[in-house]
Amino acid sequence: MTIPCDMLVFGGTGDLALHKLLPALYHLHRDGRLHPDLRILALARTALAREAYQALAERRCRAQVARADFDALTWSSFAARLDYFAMDASQSADFGRLAKHLGHAEHRVRVHYLATAPDLFEDIAAHLAIAGLAGSHARIVLEKPIGHSLESAKAINAAIGAVFDESRVFRIDHYLGKETVQNLMALRFANALFEPVWRAGHIDHVQISVCETLGVENRGAYYDRSGAMRDMIQNHLLQLLCLVAMEAPVRFDAEAVRNEKLKILQALKPISGLDVQDNTVRGQYTAGKIGGQEVPAYYFEKNVDNDSDTETFVALQVEIDNWRWAGVPFYLRTGKRMAKKATEIVIQFKPVPHRLFDGSQPNRLLIRLQPEERISLQLMGKTPGKGMRLAPVELDLNLAQAFRQKRRWDAYERLLLDVIEGDSTLFMRRDEVEAAWTWVDPILKGWLEYYQNPRPYSAGSNGPEQAQSLLELQGRKWLE
Ligand code: BG6
Repeated sequence: MTIPCDMLVFGGTGDLALHKLLPALYHLHRDGRLHPDLRILALARTALAREAYQALAERRCRAQVARADFDALTWSSFAARLDYFAMDASQSADFGRLAKHLGHAEHRVRVHYLATAPDLFEDIAAHLAIAGLAGSHARIVLEKPIGHSLESAKAINAAIGAVFDESRVFRIDHYLGKETVQNLMALRFANALFEPVWRAGHIDHVQISVCETLGVENRGAYYDRSGAMRDMIQNHLLQLLCLVAMEAPVRFDAEAVRNEKLKILQALKPISGLDVQDNTVRGQYTAGKIGGQEVPAYYFEKNVDNDSDTETFVALQVEIDNWRWAGVPFYLRTGKRMAKKATEIVIQFKPVPHRLFDGSQPNRLLIRLQPEERISLQLMGKTPGKGMRLAPVELDLNLAQAFRQKRRWDAYERLLLDVIEGDSTLFMRRDEVEAAWTWVDPILKGWLEYYQNPRPYSAGSNGPEQAQSLLELQGRKWLE
């Protein structure tokens, strides 16, 4: 069970708070993981009475939580922790009122969760300091995106750093809270088996795909300014790449793990100028069908510009300039409105050095994060009967089944507990975020200069043709 604390959720009426954070806190409450004296205070501009906010939260949580996990009794005990305070986060004076509302509690842990647009981060941090709400027991949680570019990320980090020292800043990337992502570290660093072959001499290439069937939903205004590069690649996909590629940390603690990830980000071979044409593909979905349902083109989505050239798909060929990975391509791909939802990492090994049998194929390790959590190793086996006829067979590990897990934890549950306990191993450090932007910025610039228009792909497909050719030109294929 965690410690007593105040969890303040800025942006309390927003989608993130209602759709992710409160359901995660509800589950933690239901599982008895929250200290009885943990209070949740949602903050937003709308004038709402506490009861009205609780009713709104109940509606949203009920829709989000599995029916079997939601009951009135548990909800009412959870709601007793839940309060609402109307304030304008851009107004310093409102923080004085907030401090009064919270009361003086010098040693109490206060978590300020900024589930707001990033342009409010700097103001909120400064106002918290003035109101005396940023003392040594206060922590701040920042949602991605941290900025829009290296420059804006640096400005945000500097403003936050002026108020909170780095050990109290939690930059969340919810992908790091996913069980299979942590299992990737277990697989690599708790099994001696893979380490000798986890390198250029044995691995042909790596694919990291985060394909979604969802479109931009209610987030058109945000998404149209961001695009897939800023929304997914700069954070989630680069973090996955770091975990696949990093060296073993000396300890499993926040500094050691993040030092190793940082080295990978710093070793990414820059893609800039005209290189964007050979190493990147950007796409945008047109109308199509998802699960039999017609869906509109991206530029007809709500709050999206009608002649938007924002990308909803990106594929990249990335290289890591270090001893372990020199010459091994990492192919990264993410897109909205694709044929199916699948988040997976494929480690494709080199073929055997001398082929004895027809039909033999290289081994492949598949780490699947979504929809199900699975790790499988593809080996070649002999089919029964006479003759040496080979076929791929899979050693398949379903993690939820292996550990008889009844309910799948949401990434936010794990990460919220870590914040309350002050463990930042699974959060991005300031230098990591800036290193990621340092690599991403020249690609964005290259796109502006040499690659204006995203390639169209039909909703419900596997992305633009050019993404297939990116691999095919090198005799490889995306694993669909
Ligand atoms: C978010 C992005 O960070 O991750 C969304 O802003 C995206 O655009 C989401 O849909 C994907 O998360 P998950 O956990 O569903 O893969």
